[in-house]
Amino acid sequence: TQVMNIGLLGFGTVGTGVLEIVEQHQDKLAHQIGANVKVKKILVNDLEKERGIHVQPEQLTTNVEDIIHDEDIDVVIEVMGGIEEARRCMKLALENGKHVVTANKDVMALYGSELLKTANDKHCDLFYEASVAGGIPILRTIVEGLASDRITKIMGIVNGTTNYILTKMTKEGRLYEDVLKEAQALGYAEADPTADVGGLDAARKIAILGTLGFSMNLDLDDVSVEGITEVTSQDLAYSKQLGYTMKLVGIANRQDDKVEVSVQPTLVPHEHPLASVDNEFNAVYVNGEAVGETMFYGPGAGKLPTATAVVSDLVEVLKNKRLGVNGNSAVIPQYDKQLKTPDE
Ligand code: NAP
Ligand code: HSE
Repeated sequence: TQVMNIGLLGFGTVGTGVLEIVEQHQDKLAHQIGANVKVKKILVNDLEKERGIHVQPEQLTTNVEDIIHDEDIDVVIEVMGGIEEARRCMKLALENGKHVVTANKDVMALYGSELLKTANDKHCDLFYEASVAGGIPILRTIVEGLASDRITKIMGIVNGTTNYILTKMTKEGRLYEDVLKEAQALGYAEADPTADVGGLDAARKIAILGTLGFSMNLDLDDVSVEGITEVTSQDLAYSKQLGYTMKLVGIANRQDDKVEVSVQPTLVPHEHPLASVDNEFNAVYVNGEAVGETMFYGPGAGKLPTATAVVSDLVEVLKNKRLGVNGNSAVIPQYDKQLKTPDE
């Protein structure tokens, strides 16, 4: 049987999950792709760290060039996080003709159009389903599933860490700092959780959703952002008494030719479906002119849900490779220049 070799950049929460799924679902993957998938090399910082999953020592490297210049590697999966180094590695991979799958919303929100252009120029795929709402296949749903509709509003809980914190504070009366530590230990939070609690992580995700949903290049500067750092236990208790649940909600709204995008702590009435989205779970509402109201729900963070989205992207890339259509089906927004944000 033919073997498709993969290079993995990063072997933390998501990276170890990717290896686990590739190994445990090998038969199903081989059936879909027509080849066996092998994780040939893995980029890490620390060669000695205990990972809780078996790899051969020669699979690990601290030099990205070992992966980028390995001619046997077809696809690079970027799950190292961070911004500038991850962007550099993805760009290098694409320039060297490797397809790229990433879970990195930070890079995609800031440099997505640049990287997608490089991918297009090189006839490579660049997929990033895991970057928004972890295990919910929301990007494909918006771009492909709702391709025939005109989307008017996207609204959702898109950060697992803050939803976990708000849920535990509201329902169990726990302290912010304790629950944040737990969210970090469970692998939901970013290596530096400032972007989670400050709302920037959700802002990056809503910018990606708006970009794809409204076919416009939404910059992060276009998103007004407020996180949960100022929310107190008292605020949550009062909200509950008044019949509301506090949630960090991202909203991208389109009216005529104007788009408004924001992330902020929001009082959601108890009876609203978003009020019952608890813990690390995410939910995304999409309103389309023709379809009406739809809602997608699932785990928004964590090892295996996120890795599922990454490996599903990998299957798509390898199927495209088999069909000889890589680069044609990348999730590339077709920008509609008439849309404006309020400042324009
Ligand atoms: P993580 O647990 O911190 O893992 C990062 C991995 O990358 C580590 O193995 C680290 O190596 C390696 N690494 C980082 N910078 C490196 C560098 N410059 N050179 C070599 N290796 C480097 O992070 P994670 O939670 O898996 O998240 C990875 C990405 O997925 C991020 O972009 C994140 O936003 C995204 N994501 C995460 C989740 C989630 O639930 N965790 C969900 C959706 C998307 P060492 O282990 O040797 O230090
Ligand atoms: N830190 C992110 C979250 C991971 O908590 O939602 C998923 O993108």
